[in-house]
Amino acid sequence: MKAESQIYEKINTVICDSAVEASEAVASQVIDLIRQRAAAGQPAVLGLATGSTPLLLYKRLIQAHREEGLSFKHVITFNLDEYYGLEREHPESYWRFMHDQLLDHIDIAPENIHLPDGRVPRDEVFAYCQDYEERIQAAGGLDMQILGIGRTGHIGFNEPGSSEDSITRLVTLDRLTRKDAARDFKGENSVPRNAITMGIGTILRAKQIFLMAWGQSKAEVLAKAIEAAPTATLPASFLQAHNNVTFYIDQAAASELTRMKLPWLVGPVQWDRTLIRKAVIWLAKERDKPVLKLRDEDYSEFGLSELLTDYGPAYDLNIAIFNELQHAITGWPGGKPNADDSHRPERATPPQKRSLVLSPEPSIAEMSMGATIRRLVSQGHQVTLAHMCSGNLGVSDRDALHAAEFASSVIAEEEPVAVTAGSRIPVLAELQQKSPFEDDSPSIREFKGLLRKSEALTTGRALSLESDRVRHLDLPFYENGRYRRFKPGQEDRDMLVALLREIQPHQIYMTGHLSDPSSLDAVSFALFQQAVCAVAGDDWWQDCWVWLYNPADTLMPCHETQMSVPVSPDELHEKVKAIYSYHTQRSQVPGGENQEAWDLARELGLKAAEEIDVLGLAEYEALERFQLWRESLSAN
Ligand code: PGA
Repeated sequence: MKAESQIYEKINTVICDSAVEASEAVASQVIDLIRQRAAAGQPAVLGLATGSTPLLLYKRLIQAHREEGLSFKHVITFNLDEYYGLEREHPESYWRFMHDQLLDHIDIAPENIHLPDGRVPRDEVFAYCQDYEERIQAAGGLDMQILGIGRTGHIGFNEPGSSEDSITRLVTLDRLTRKDAARDFKGENSVPRNAITMGIGTILRAKQIFLMAWGQSKAEVLAKAIEAAPTATLPASFLQAHNNVTFYIDQAAASELTRMKLPWLVGPVQWDRTLIRKAVIWLAKERDKPVLKLRDEDYSEFGLSELLTDYGPAYDLNIAIFNELQHAITGWPGGKPNADDSHRPERATPPQKRSLVLSPEPSIAEMSMGATIRRLVSQGHQVTLAHMCSGNLGVSDRDALHAAEFASSVIAEEEPVAVTAGSRIPVLAELQQKSPFEDDSPSIREFKGLLRKSEALTTGRALSLESDRVRHLDLPFYENGRYRRFKPGQEDRDMLVALLREIQPHQIYMTGHLSDPSSLDAVSFALFQQAVCAVAGDDWWQDCWVWLYNPADTLMPCHETQMSVPVSPDELHEKVKAIYSYHTQRSQVPGGENQEAWDLARELGLKAAEEIDVLGLAEYEALERFQLWRESLSAN
C-alpha cells in the first residue's frame, strides 16, 4: 500500500540519499534475477540503457562478476537505442559505450548481446527494427528493463510525440536531447539527428522496469512523469500503465515531487527554519500577496494551519520570515567591516578576506557570480578565481580552426620568409585534416584549452581581476578524460589541496553539489569534498566558510538562499559584457533553447530579484544567490 506522503504519485518511487545507494538497490535486484535464473538453468533477459545514469549500476555489476562470482553466461541483453549513422567504434556510439562500461568486463557470450545497429542502410531499417522486436520475443521477452530519463521526458530515444504502443523504429532526436549530447560530441552540429530506439510499447512489455535518475536537472520532468496524467508529450509518463515499475531517484532529482516540494500537503512534517521559509514563500506566491500581508485565513486555507498553531499567529510568522529574507540580502559578500554582523550573512572580520572562487571550468563561476566577484575585489578582498579544468572539450573544431588560422596568419606576416602556416602552427594542419567525429589529439586539446584560458583572462579583467588572480589548475582527470567518463584520482586531489593551502582562503565559492554525479560540476564538487577532508586539520580551515553558488542553468531556491548579493543595472550590464568574452561557448548553454550563456546569466539574475520583489522586499535589478555549505560548518 502507498504511504500517505505518496498519494500524488502514480509510479512507485524510491528516493535514495545518493545515486550510489540507488544504483546498489537496483544492482542487487539485477544480480538476484541473474542468480535465480542461472539456478533454474534459464537465461535472464535484460533491457539495458546508456547515458550517465546507469554507470554506477554497471560498475557494481562488474564488481559482482569479479569479486562475487556472478556469471553472465546465461544473460541475454538488448539495448534500448543507438545513434543512427555512427560507426560502432565511434567513441560516442552506444555500442562502444556498452562495451567500455560493461560488456568487455563480464563473461557474457557475444551472441547474447544485442544492440541496435546504427549502420543499417536506410531502406533496410524497417525490416531491421522488426527483426529486433522478434529477437526480443524469441528470447522470451525482457525480464527487466533498465531506463534513464531525458530532460524531454524520453525513455530510450522515444521523444515527445511517441505513441504508447510504438515499437522499435528510426526516430528523429529532439532539439533538447541533441543539445544535451552536444558536449559529448563537441558541438551540437556533430550530434546525429536520428536514432534507432525500442518503442514505448516494447518497453512496456518488459516484465519489470527500473528507471533511475540523478540530479536537479531531472527533477521537473520526473515530477511530471510521476504525478501528472500520462501524455505523449512526456513519454516516461506512459510507464504509469505498467504494473511492475519502480523509479529509483536521488534527493536532487526528487526535489519537485509534491512530497518533497510541498511536504505539508501530504502529511505531518518536522518544521525547521528552511522548511518554514519554504512554506511561507510558497503561500505568498499561491496567494499572490507579499509576505507581510498574509493572514491567518491564508495559512489555514492552504493547508498550513499546523504551522500557524506551532509558530503563529500569521503576524509573527510573516515578520520572522520577512526578516530572514531581508537579512540574507547584502551588498557586502565579504562581510561589512566594522559593522555589527549578527544579522549579516558573512563575518565582519577579518575586514580583508582571501576569497577563492572555484569554477569547474571557465565561465561557470563568472555566469553565476560575476557581479559578486567584482564587488569582492572593489571591497578590497583578495580574490582568486581558479578554473579547475581547462574546458577544452567545450571548444568546437570550428572555433579552434578559426583561431589557428588567425595565429598562423599573424606569424606568416611577421616572418614571411619560408614560413608555411602549417609548419609554425602544427595544430592548424591537424585541424584542417580532422574529420568531424575524430577525437582531439593532445595538441588540439591543449590548443583549445589555451583558447578558453585567453577568454577567461579577458573575462577576469572585465570583472576587475588582474591576470595573476585568474588561475588554471588543468586537473589531469579532465585533460585525460571525456564527458561522463571522468575518473578523478589522487593527483587531482593533491593539486586542489595544494591550491587551498597556498591561498588559505577565508571564503570559498563552489558549485556542483546538486548536479548529476557524472557531470563535470558534480565530479569537481566530489573532488573538492575530498580536498576539504585533507585540509580539515589545518588552522586556516577552522575559519573558512564555503558558499555554494548556482549551477549555471538553474536558480537556487529562494528559501535555501542564505546570501543574496544585489546587482545594479550597470553591474548587470558589466557582468553580461564580461561573459561575452567566452566566444567559444556560444550556443553551448546546457539548459536553454537557443539561449546564450550571457542571456541565461542575465535571466537568472533578474528572476532572483523579481522573486524577492513579489514577496514584498526591496525591488532590485538583479541578485546573485548563495547558500552556506552546511558540511563546511560542521567540519570546522
Ligand atoms: P543520461 O541520459 O543518463 O545521460 O542523463 C538519460 C537519457 O537520455 O535517457
